[in-house]
Amino acid sequence: AVERTLSIIKPDAVAKNVIGEIIARFEKANLQVVAAKMLHLSREQAEGFYAEHKERPFFGELVGFMTSGPVVVQVLEGENAISQNRDLMGATNPKEAAAGTIRADFANSIDANAVHGSDSPAAAEREVAYFFSDDEICPRG
Ligand code: CMP
Repeated sequence: AVERTLSIIKPDAVAKNVIGEIIARFEKANLQVVAAKMLHLSREQAEGFYAEHKERPFFGELVGFMTSGPVVVQVLEGENAISQNRDLMGATNPKEAAAGTIRADFANSIDANAVHGSDSPAAAEREVAYFFSDDEICPRG
């Protein structure tokens, strides 16, 4: 089925100037960008986005990293977009990410891991709505 998923190009990848290389991977896999913006997240925005991880030991570092510089948030649309994006990203820990995945090629550590992608349909719905109103999403038809 055609799905939408939320993608974040994280501060490490923006700093490396590989926004375009990452978007090219989505496009080559037939995912379409239907919404996009660059943001420097506030602490409140990052804490709210990652609220499900609030009790995890890495939460403070995660929020600190995600607010350390600008990010690119996008809605990707396509057939099986949620799992497709996760396959393109590779494992959360770049040391475990398969060759040829975005994290294997661009990530440095489990915090500075280049990209985020929604991990389920429920997460995708929440995460898309967290950053985008309906009138900011532009389906290609
Ligand atoms: P992301 O997909 O953005 O979701 C939560 C983030 O927490 C994850 O990617 C990692 O960058 C970061 N993180 C740091 N430590 C861990 C850990 N031990 N397990 C999972 N995620 C972690």
